[in-house]
Amino acid sequence: MTEQIVILDFGAQYTQVIARRIRECKVYSTILRYDTPAREIAALAPKGIILSGGPSSVYARNAPLPDRAIFDLGIPVLGICYGVQLLAHYLGGKVERGLKREYGKGTLRVRDRTCPLFKGLPATLQVWNSHGDKLTSLPEGFKSAAVTENSDYAAIENRARKMFGVQFHPEVAHTPRGREVIANFVHAICGCGKGWTMLNYADQAVEAIRQQAGNEHVILGLSGGVDSSVVAALLHKAIGSQLTCIFVNNGLLRGREPEVVRDVFGRHFKIKLQYEDASRLFLSRLRGITDPERKRKIIGRTFIEVFQTATKRAGKAKFLAQGTLYPDVIESVPIAGNPAAMIKSHHNVGGLPKNMRFKLIEPLKCLFKDEVRELWLALGLPHEIIMRQPFPGPGLAVRILGEVTPARLAILRNADTIVVEEMKSSGWYYKIWQSFAVLLPVRSVGVMGDERTYDYTIAIRIVDSQDGMTADWVKLPYDLLEKLSSRIINEVKGVNRVCFDITSKPPGTIEWE
Ligand code: XMP
Repeated sequence: MTEQIVILDFGAQYTQVIARRIRECKVYSTILRYDTPAREIAALAPKGIILSGGPSSVYARNAPLPDRAIFDLGIPVLGICYGVQLLAHYLGGKVERGLKREYGKGTLRVRDRTCPLFKGLPATLQVWNSHGDKLTSLPEGFKSAAVTENSDYAAIENRARKMFGVQFHPEVAHTPRGREVIANFVHAICGCGKGWTMLNYADQAVEAIRQQAGNEHVILGLSGGVDSSVVAALLHKAIGSQLTCIFVNNGLLRGREPEVVRDVFGRHFKIKLQYEDASRLFLSRLRGITDPERKRKIIGRTFIEVFQTATKRAGKAKFLAQGTLYPDVIESVPIAGNPAAMIKSHHNVGGLPKNMRFKLIEPLKCLFKDEVRELWLALGLPHEIIMRQPFPGPGLAVRILGEVTPARLAILRNADTIVVEEMKSSGWYYKIWQSFAVLLPVRSVGVMGDERTYDYTIAIRIVDSQDGMTADWVKLPYDLLEKLSSRIINEVKGVNRVCFDITSKPPGTIEWE
């Protein structure tokens, strides 16, 4: 059984970050709801339990509280922020409402250098705080392991019971050596090894797919994006010709996308690839539509329709494979004040209805995005596909403001190809999250040679981001911007003006529609 750490989620903004930090220690981690019964947790035999932070106060009327019995399982516990207050609250200490929030940078002084949480770390550490309530007295058997300017109990421990708590957030980048605190918990305290690697995972996943699929056929919707590509590679390795990939050309793809996908998966991997060219259908349904939400809905519905018909043509299959990732399956804890709970994804274009007649195979269901990339490399597959930037399901339709027409698509494709080429040849493509062109079908006056022009505008959108939730516009060098602008204006017929989008997210979104 894979060694794992269970994280109980009390509605913190950073719960997923804790899970990733643990996995960076090569230890598997699972996020569970805060009120998961202790016996369910015990059944997973975790090597440790982490109580996440959360926006609540332990005294609030609807405070999320854990099953008290988790403290009697004999499993090491680390409470973070709200989590340490819970420890104190349940085990006989005292938490008081802080008069003011302690927020931002602080300096932690380690009192007891033998505390295993701070093994190998210096006596003072920069840490990040964000809490209102504070601990004012410790439960029996606990002592203070570290202090800050504002707290005598910034870190506490009961070494005999292997229970620890920190008031600061070790998981965030603003606590520069926080990773080591987490590593100390999982290795030195919980005794975890370093068995969670993508090479091991690939072998396990291939075996699990073989078990699940048996002799049956499996269908996969291949988009050419990172997730479905990795699923295709895993399935191909596991069950070879029992796999059929369906690739839908919705007419809204980038320049050479359909050829690239057919080349890489069909010819190179020799995967059975069913190519569905539905571009005319999509474009005819989009005719005259200008409202962004309607566009997205039409594309989503048409995709489902085309895909369902295509699966019938693909022959008898029992399973449908999907590239669902771990963040898609974590049930977010809806606690007021937790922004993570409020962000609703509208990104379900390409999602399939739940009532399809297939059983699901979802081999990436417990992985984060960066782990998916690692898995691809562990499978020994070419870098090119995996280093691609994200591309939205509704494709270029959300990058053409207003009506999508074949003529506008042609203009945008040409401009987009130039952006990708220049970003790649300057090396910037791989350093940032996304870089693309947007077509603004408003006309402005220009001169070219001796002629007056009256043409469209291209906006260049170049952003950096960790996960697409927030993003900053990238300060590209002027000479690269100049090259982009002059190439687009000279080479793309129908465009006489180029603008650079300097909006961050929030308040802007990354895509324009
Ligand atoms: P926004 O525009 O919401 O985009 O700031 C955030 C990230 O999501 C991508 N995106 C999508 N991806 N289907 C997808 O698979 C969609 O409908 C979709 N819309 C936006 C966008 O490219 C960016 O990386």
